[in-house]
Order: sequence, then C-alpha cells, then structure tokens
Amino acid sequence: MDLTLSDEHRQLRELAHRFTEERIVPHALRWDREEAIDKALVPMLGATGFLGLGIDEKYGGSGGDNLAYCLVLEEIARGDSAVRGIISVSLGLVAKSIAKHGTEEQKQRWLPGLTAGTQIGCFALTEPGTGSDAGSLATKATKTDNGYLLNGRKVFITNGTWADVALTFARTGGPGPKGISAFLVPTDTKGFTATEIKGKLGMRGQATAEITFEDVEVPDDALLSDEGFKLAMQALDKGRMSVAAGCVGAARGALEASLKYAKEREQFGKPIAGFQLVQELLADMAVETDAARLLTWRVADLADRNEKFSTEASMAKLYASEAAVRVANNAIQVFGGYGYIDEYPVGKYLRDTRVTTLYEGTSQIQKLLIGRALTGINAFQ
Ligand code: CAA
Repeated sequence: MDLTLSDEHRQLRELAHRFTEERIVPHALRWDREEAIDKALVPMLGATGFLGLGIDEKYGGSGGDNLAYCLVLEEIARGDSAVRGIISVSLGLVAKSIAKHGTEEQKQRWLPGLTAGTQIGCFALTEPGTGSDAGSLATKATKTDNGYLLNGRKVFITNGTWADVALTFARTGGPGPKGISAFLVPTDTKGFTATEIKGKLGMRGQATAEITFEDVEVPDDALLSDEGFKLAMQALDKGRMSVAAGCVGAARGALEASLKYAKEREQFGKPIAGFQLVQELLADMAVETDAARLLTWRVADLADRNEKFSTEASMAKLYASEAAVRVANNAIQVFGGYGYIDEYPVGKYLRDTRVTTLYEGTSQIQKLLIGRALTGINAFQ
C-alpha cells in the first residue's frame, strides 16, 4: 500500500495551502466574531477550482478524485472549518447530487454557477421534529397539474440564507423513507423564506438558516429524484467523508498552533515543550490526527475504486470528529489561559469541531450504522 501522494495531488494540496494562508487565515477570527464570512470568498473558491472538484469540466468542474477533494478540505479547514463547510454542502451535497442524479437540463441549469461559486446550494433535509430520524420528515410536496406545491419547515440548514438553490427533501408518498422525493428549489421562489440562526457555538461565519416553505410552487422539472431518501443517504456517505477530512484539517491546525506555542512559551525557565506532560498532550494529538487522516483516506480510496464505502465513511466521520474535539481540547490545555480567549485560534477549533459530532449524522447514529453493518441487526426498526 503506497500512501505517497502523486505530483498532481501534492500540487493541489500546495495550492489549497497557499489559498488558505492568503485568503482565509488572516480573516478567520474576524469572520467568527462578526458571525459572517465575507461572501466574496465563495467565487474565489470557485475560480481556484475548489468548488468544481469531482465535477465534469463540461459543467465548469475541475475534475479530480475523492482523495483530491479530501486534501483540499483538510487544508481549508486548517484555516477555517466554516469555509470548509460551505464547500462540503454546496459542492459535496448539492452539486455532486445534481451531477449524479440530474437530467441534462438540471445539470446545465445549476452546475456552472455552483462550480464557479456565483451560486450556492443548501441541503434542506433536517426538520425541527426530524433530525436523526430523517426518514420521518414531514415537509409535504403535493402534486399539481404543472408541478408540486411544497409546505413545511427545515432547520439548521448550512448556507441556507446564502443559497440560490435548495436541494429539498419532501414527502410525495406514504410514511417512511420510501415516500420521500428530492427537489431543486430556486430560493427566489415565492413562499420560500430563509431566516438566519445567530448565536451558534461554532461555525459562526457560516450562514445557517431555518427555512419555511409556504405554498412554494415548483414545476415538474424541479424533481431531482422520486427516491429522495436514497439520494440523501448516498450524498451523506460522501458528506461524512468530507466532514472527516475537515476534522483532520482542524485537528492539524490545533496541533501546529500548539507545537509553535509550546516551543515559545517558557515556564520554570524553559519552553513548556520540554515538559513530558506537555509532550504527552502533543503526542496524543499527533497520533489522533494521523489516525483520522488514514481512516479518511481509506474512504476516498474505496470511493475512487468504485467500491462500497458507507460503513467506512461512518467510521471515519465518527473517529475524526470525536478526535478533532479531543485534539482541540488538548490544544487549549497546552495554551493554558491564552487558549481560553479568542486572540489565539485554538478555542475556535474546539467550538467549530464540536458540531461535527452532531451534524451529517451524530456520533451515536454512526455507531448504530457501524453496528448494523457488523451484526446485520437494524436498531432503527
Ligand atoms: N446508500 C444507499 N441507499 C441507502 C443508504 C445508503 N448509504 N442508506 C440507506 N439506504 C436505503 C436503504 O437501502 C433502504 O432502501 P430499501 O428499502 O430499498 O432497501 C432505504 O434507503 C431506507 O433505509 P433505512 O431502512 O436504513 O432507513 P432508516 O429510516 O432506518 O434510516 C438512518 C435511518 C440511517 C439513521 C438515517 O435516518 C440517517 O442517516 N439519519 C441521520 C440523518 C443525517 O445524517 N442528517 C444530516 C442532516 S444534513 C446536514 O447535516 C448537512 C448540513 O447542513 C451540514
């Protein structure tokens, strides 16, 4: 097994590293304090090709495999997980679902804008009453003569207030996962309202929204799939890989900041990096970061070889998200009191990574999915 990156992968990683250093790192703390990333960053991400990874060039994509995607996400999240999340959702969940399931017209309508970053997508699955139990969602799409009428509410929708298109999951049939369809809803449609959710613990630069659909009328060709639940689960398999890659980046950022600080900060007449208990913290952080990266790369490798990877994606997401929280928490321990104020980045790493054990399937859901794969017993029934 060769874990050496190809020249192409190394160059892409270097490009993402430079972009992050120049365009993200200098602003990340301000965006966090102001609860708003500068939206002008999104077309810059597009122009650099980061919003077209894995999408055909015919639709403005920049190609590349799943490993390339993970490398870019790691670099970006090292600078700001909130920016990583914009990419994971707009490209990973929305554009890639359109590329996989869309008609030619749907691809031509949405992919060029999404890959360029002149348009943004959101993934409207979660509802106030259905988080983990996504198959029970209540938003309804009623068939009309010319299309569908959507009514319902969504919550915690990343990119929600920024989005031009909402990949929306709504019930067209009976109860349970089988009755769900997926729609591409332009967000300027009458009756669509996105309201910003402020005061998040982390990922504060992201536009997270509550969305209401009040008699939102869409034509027949807004239907992306009448097997909406399967589409969502497939999108989330890759989404979990991308969250894991982002967690690796955040953990690496916390480790790098801690190493630098531990070599500079002196106590008892010497740098604290010389104390064995500080070294233990740093060693644990390094091992967990590398282990998370290897689990993530395994998913990318399986996906690139067109093999099944759902369970491995759950493993990577579970481990990387929990590890990133532990690593960021250790970073605060290394920084001491300075880690507790936002002059230094490590508190932000902890706040930002905390949500990764919740969204795109909680850690408990990942464990149940892994348990189901191991035992053949379905805890959800
Ligand atoms: N790939 C393809 N098909 C899949 C699949 C997958 N990974 N997982 C399930 N399916 C299929 C099943 O095969 C089944 O089809 P058949 O009946 O034809 O066999 C159908 O989908 C129903 O599957 P389940 O029986 O597993 O359905 P369930 O209701 O028991 O699912 C669950 C339970 C797996 C826990 C699911 O509800 C789940 O993943 N919950 C977590 C939800 C989640 O991750 N939400 C994230 C919100 S989005 C977000 O966070 C984005 C953001 O903005 C940041």
